[in-house]
Amino acid sequence: MTKTLSTAEAEKLFTFENVGASLKELETPVPIIDFDIMLANLIRWQKHCDEIGIANWPHIKTHKLVPVAKLQMALGAKGLAVQKLGEAEVMAAAGLKELLLTFNVVGESKIARLAKLMRDTNIAVVADSMEVVAGLDEAGKRAGRKLDVLVECDTGMGRNGAQTPADALKLAQVIDRSEHLTFGGLMTYPPAGKRESVGTWLAEAKQALARADLPAKRISSGGTPDMWKKEGLTDVTEYRAGTYVYNDRAIVRSGAAAWKDCAETVLATVISTPTPERALIDAGSKALTSDLLGLEGYGLVHGLGDALVYGVNEEHGYINVAKSAAKPKVGDLVKVVMNHVCPVNNLFDKVVFVRGDKVLGAVTVDARGKVH
Ligand SMILES: Cc1ncc(COP(=O)(O)O)c(C=O)c1O
Repeated sequence: MTKTLSTAEAEKLFTFENVGASLKELETPVPIIDFDIMLANLIRWQKHCDEIGIANWPHIKTHKLVPVAKLQMALGAKGLAVQKLGEAEVMAAAGLKELLLTFNVVGESKIARLAKLMRDTNIAVVADSMEVVAGLDEAGKRAGRKLDVLVECDTGMGRNGAQTPADALKLAQVIDRSEHLTFGGLMTYPPAGKRESVGTWLAEAKQALARADLPAKRISSGGTPDMWKKEGLTDVTEYRAGTYVYNDRAIVRSGAAAWKDCAETVLATVISTPTPERALIDAGSKALTSDLLGLEGYGLVHGLGDALVYGVNEEHGYINVAKSAAKPKVGDLVKVVMNHVCPVNNLFDKVVFVRGDKVLGAVTVDARGKVH
């Protein structure tokens, strides 16, 4: 159930480093996150999960922050999804122990790390092949207890995963026969806009498993673009949303959020205005990433009349200010709404929380760079 948490209680989970009181005092480029918008995003989704009876398993790959993960748990999340062992280790070290690792664990050193995590946490993992299952069985053996494994299903994304419900059943049977594993259910990262066909895929797999006397305890789906859609969720028991915590240009395009729900922007400084049409900022691909996600340009500056960041070099961002009523001057600050927030948070050691233009303070991005 959604726990009620006041803004002050939520803020108590954060230790803010003093980096000044106003945006003008910040060094740019820097990601800034509006605390109240973030909190509203988290509460809205938790309430929705409670209303539709689905367990909330937020994916921490977007924020990579222990205090935000703690906030999600305090609001009612059942556990946390992580993409890499390194993210799991960071969460576990902070006492967050209900984890689902949604990425195949492959390789000897990773199996050893998983076995160690199993001793400290209640981690479940995924697999989509016999090879991966064999490694996981070894991790369970080393940890001295059984490991819960969900079969990853490719329900239309065209990424990895069992290709058909029949394949999912076969792998579930292999997991079930493995000495140190238990079959945990199904996991999918579905393609956006395909809820109905994904639902049919999962229903078929669920029925095949039930016929084989291997009920799927958990059916885990996810993704922010479709998170508010009702269809195709009949068999889903839990949902992993990641980007919803902050939102971004791609999510606004998907219709899952409005501009006012975008909590995170990159604060940048205008460093040159060589022509009346062009302003250059100190945020390029090393701050905004080069992710396009099918959008035009690399970000949008609402403060300059929705001016487009139309180009990036590593350190330079190019803004088209031809149509901006007020031309920016060197030294001005701009807020860029990024195409894709997740990789941006992996580029900075610290992010700064704000309330409007008031600075609350900086926090270290705990799992930054944890891509192993
Ligand atoms: C396996 C998995 N689950 C959940 C998510 C979260 O998706 P979103 O950020 O769209 O909410 C992702 C994102 O890439 C993912 O790969």
